[in-house]
Amino acid sequence: MKYRSRTIKSKWVKTKWLRGSGKVASYVPDTRLFKRTNLVAMLNSYAAVYCKPTGGSGGTGIMRVKKKGNEYLLQYGSGQSTHASMDSLYERMKKRIKGRPYLLQKGISLAKTKGNPFDIRVMVQKTDGGKWVSTALFTKIGRPGKVATNYNQGGNIGYFTPTMAGAGFGSDRIKSKEAELKRLGRQVGRAFDLHGKGFRELGLDVALEDGGRAWILEVNTSPQFYPLKQMKNKALYRRIVSYAKQYGRKG
Ligand SMILES: Nc1ncnc2c1ncn2[C@@H]1O[C@H](COP(=O)(O)OP(=O)(O)O)[C@@H](O)[C@H]1O
Ligand SMILES: [Mg+2]
Repeated sequence: MKYRSRTIKSKWVKTKWLRGSGKVASYVPDTRLFKRTNLVAMLNSYAAVYCKPTGGSGGTGIMRVKKKGNEYLLQYGSGQSTHASMDSLYERMKKRIKGRPYLLQKGISLAKTKGNPFDIRVMVQKTDGGKWVSTALFTKIGRPGKVATNYNQGGNIGYFTPTMAGAGFGSDRIKSKEAELKRLGRQVGRAFDLHGKGFRELGLDVALEDGGRAWILEVNTSPQFYPLKQMKNKALYRRIVSYAKQYGRKG
């Protein structure tokens, strides 16, 4: 890393930090280690379960399981399979996982903007004065049928307000969600400070349910923002870069 900001890869460690923090714990969906017993229990409780590599990024290696009548539908980056039994499903998942550490997480049914599922990136940066600031909100709009909304998976970057309007939220709701998510970003920053020195930037991936309830899917410690460069309005990009300069990150 060429700039001064601490990173941590394990989604499991970060999930435990969030869960241990009173203010943000209620934003964390049920998350467990990948194990057969956990898979069975979660598929009994939830309509969809996500399975992701503990050290992954960019949407790679992510799988989603849904119950469909008496069968299980397993979806991943480039394909899908159906399984008539838990044994068959579990074996197929294990084959894809190849012994690497993986997590299971309650699937959140993402709100849709003009028919496309999206999630929200909350960019949080710490000033030289030690204050966490939520510097930018933007959205990642997925391709229908894709498991992940990531830019690397063909997702599109969107502006927060129009994406929310396209999902049917009125302007008052949009403003109050914006305030809530920015507050959440600062709270997550302070929660991370309790576990390590040197965090300067965090990127929260936040899913909104149809009704608007927000869930933290993960927290990135070296969030990318180069995709913002191509946006027509460069204000968000410039704002992030101006904060990033304080810890030596150029872009
Ligand atoms: N629990 C979940 N419910 C719904 N969608 C999810 C869930 N977990 C991940 N996703 C989708 O997959 C994407 C990538 O997952 P994420 O946890 O951010 O891992 P990565 O580090 O690969 O970006 C998310 O942005 C979201 O679109
Ligand atoms: Mg992510």
